[in-house]
Formats: sequence, C-alpha cells, structure tokens
Amino acid sequence: VIGDIERGKALAGEICVACHGADGNSPVPMFPKLAGQHADYALKQLQEFASGRRQSDIMKPIVEGLSTRDMADVAVFFAAQQPLPGQVDDPSMLDAGRRVFNEGNPDQGVPACAGCHGANGIGNARYPRLAGQYPAYVLDQMAQFADGRRSNDKRLMQTIASRLGETETRAVAEYIASL
Ligand code: HEM
Ligand code: HEM
Repeated sequence: VIGDIERGKALAGEICVACHGADGNSPVPMFPKLAGQHADYALKQLQEFASGRRQSDIMKPIVEGLSTRDMADVAVFFAAQQPLPGQVDDPSMLDAGRRVFNEGNPDQGVPACAGCHGANGIGNARYPRLAGQYPAYVLDQMAQFADGRRSNDKRLMQTIASRLGETETRAVAEYIASL
C-alpha cells in the first residue's frame, strides 16, 4: 500500500483516536491495537467493513466516511507506529498457549499459528500481526470466525477457530499477548 503517513496521522487524530488511541495502542481491550499492524491487511479490513464481508456495527459507519485514499493513509500511519507490549491476564496458561501457537493441535487438525502469523506473531502483508494484541479482542475474533460472523478469510481461520477447544483458544490468546 502506498499512502501518506502525515495525512493519515491527521485523519486518525480526528476519527480513530477515541477507540484505537492516537498511536494505535488502543486503551480498551475490545478495541484492537493497530500500532504496527501491516498496512495491506488493515486496508483489506477497512474495505471489507465497507463491503460488509466483515461485519461490525461500530466500524461500518466509520469506513463509510472514508475514501480509498483515506483508508490507505490511515493504514500506513498505524503500520508505522510502535506497538506497546501486550498484557497477559493469566500467566499459568502461557506454556499451553505456546504449544498451540508453535505446534497447533494435530489431533484436531489445527495447524500451527506460527506457520502463517510467524514465530514471533509479527505476521506479514497477508497474515496479520498478532503479537501483543489484547486477549479479549483475540478471543472475540476467534468466536466470530468459529460461528461464521467473520467470514472474510477464505475459511482458513474459520476452520481453525471452530476446531480449537475453548481452553486452548484462551491459552493461545494469552500467549499472543506475551509476544
Ligand atoms: C477494528 C481501523 C475508528 C472500533 C478495526 C480494524 C481496523 C480499524 C483496521 C481491524 C483491526 C484488525 O483486524 O486487527 C480504524 C480506523 C479508524 C477507526 C482507521 C478511523 C478512521 C474506530 C472507532 C471505533 C472503532 C472510532 C469506536 C467507536 C473498532 C472495533 C473494532 C475495530 C470495535 C473491532 C471490530 C470487530 O468486532 O471485528 N478498526 N478504526 N474504530 N475498530 Fe476501528
Ligand atoms: C487472522 C489467530 C492460525 C491465517 C487471524 C486473527 C486472529 C488469528 C486472532 C484476527 C486478527 C485480527 O483481527 O487482528 C490465529 C491463531 C492461530 C492461527 C490463534 C492458530 C491456532 C492461522 C494459520 C493461518 C492463518 C495456520 C494460515 C493457514 C490467517 C489469515 C487471517 C488471520 C489469512 C486474516 C484474515 C482476514 O483477512 O481477515 N488469525 N490464527 N491463521 N489468520 Fe490466523
């Protein structure tokens, strides 16, 4: 994505700051951190909120006010911000979460998260950064993938989220926060 970081900063400061924070380190666990998120992925999400392929009553009216250029500019601005470390709520789950992240669950046919999102959860243009994300947001997205409310991923995540058990899902969300 090519965009104008300075213009994106101004737009973000007007529109996104209330929920995602001025630098994309959102202060609220149900609002995803955008700092350091890949611009290509973020732009895809904004376009899919607009088209309805990804449903969100909160983001829909916001993206309706944005042009394609606006979306690219805010995406490159947030991608260039420094993500703050995540907060682990339950450290006792980290070992189990690390195992799921790095090995998946072969018995349930779940591939390793690291295979797509990277060993450190940094992701790339196609696979979102997960490192440091809020467990509450991650759990909510996994639930949305599992029950089909979020279906904009060519079924990769829908299959994974519907196969992974509740405890393993919670554990991997904690581990993601620790990355
Ligand atoms: C999700 C960008 C304004 C609340 C997202 C995502 C992006 C984004 C890229 C997807 C994140 C991901 O998949 O990891 C923006 C931009 C904004 C903006 C660029 C300003 C132009 C806001 C505002 C609110 C908000 C003002 C609150 C009123 C949310 C929520 C989600 C979200 C709740 C998660 C939606 C879900 O359930 O899937 N936003 N956002 N955003 N944003 Fe925003
Ligand atoms: C998106 C978690 C494995 C491909 C996501 C998101 C989460 C997640 C929480 C949403 C990120 C956000 O909204 O910011 C996990 C976990 C995994 C796993 C916990 C292991 C259990 C994989 C694997 C692949 C994959 C193995 C590739 C085969 C994707 C893709 C998206 C995504 C393509 C973005 C979908 C879109 O464009 O909306 N993942 N993931 N994930 N994941 Fe995974």
